[in-house]
Amino acid sequence: MPGVVKLFGEHAVVYGRPAIAAAIDRGTWATCTASDRLTVEVSGHSARLVYNAEGGSVEARGAEGFLSYVSTALRLARDTWGPLRAAIRLEGDFPPGAGVATSAGAVVAVLATYAACRGARLDRGELARLAHMVELEVQGAASPMDTWVATHGGVVKLRASPFSAEPIETSVDAYVVVLFPRRGTTGQIVADVKRLVGSRRSASAVLDAIGAVVEEAEACLRAGDAECVGQLMYINNWLLGALGVVDAEAVSLIERARPYIYGGKISGAGRGGAVLLLPRDFNTVKVLVGHMPHYVVKVDRGGVRVI
Ligand code: MEV
Repeated sequence: MPGVVKLFGEHAVVYGRPAIAAAIDRGTWATCTASDRLTVEVSGHSARLVYNAEGGSVEARGAEGFLSYVSTALRLARDTWGPLRAAIRLEGDFPPGAGVATSAGAVVAVLATYAACRGARLDRGELARLAHMVELEVQGAASPMDTWVATHGGVVKLRASPFSAEPIETSVDAYVVVLFPRRGTTGQIVADVKRLVGSRRSASAVLDAIGAVVEEAEACLRAGDAECVGQLMYINNWLLGALGVVDAEAVSLIERARPYIYGGKISGAGRGGAVLLLPRDFNTVKVLVGHMPHYVVKVDRGGVRVI
């Protein structure tokens, strides 16, 4: 299951504006083996969660945030495909809650593995729909962006309502993701933005401006114009700053990297989490961020795969 980076339009997408996200070649891996009961084990990055679906027992260290996603996904999976006894194991390239759609990846992974184990046909549309229902139930507010892109792969321009998803062919397809400790969950940060949008009329103008950036960015991506994509990443980042989700650390990193990148922005809910850089010079950027968790990522065009 690929991870997902948000190239343009996060937060505004929750309010009906378009957004562009990309599936990346790092994400979540899942296996399923026969067992006398249904368990889900999430491990890696010194985090571990073992959930015994029948007894409801849980053993968690560092991955507690996944529990409600996993248990909700299992309930919807059982309602959709019938009961299953199996041991599902998930392992991720990114630490849980990193801000790279790890929860969407885990949900899609649990659902796809459950369906495959039950011998059900892989229907990406249904997977994406169920995974979005899980995120909605757990987070309260969530656009279908992360779950749709993790399921289908590629670079996608989408709108939440009325729902539309349009693939974008682009040669601008390699980035560096730098991870910062998160302050708050996606649900909490989305709720803070909702309060701001509900109380200040000007915040809606910021959302409109983000929508305009997305439209312009689509053309730049299709043209393979990295200079233009980078400039719009800077603009999108300042607009996200106006919504209160960009920390000083992210701004400082992007400014230090400025000579070596086309552009940079936070990617996802913000307040720590992922910063996305579009490098001119990968080697210098890698040295610059060497002391922080970072990943060179390329666009994944395959989406969810069952092997
Ligand atoms: C989170 O990855 C992206 C947000 O736009 C929330 C959402 O789309 O559900 C902040």
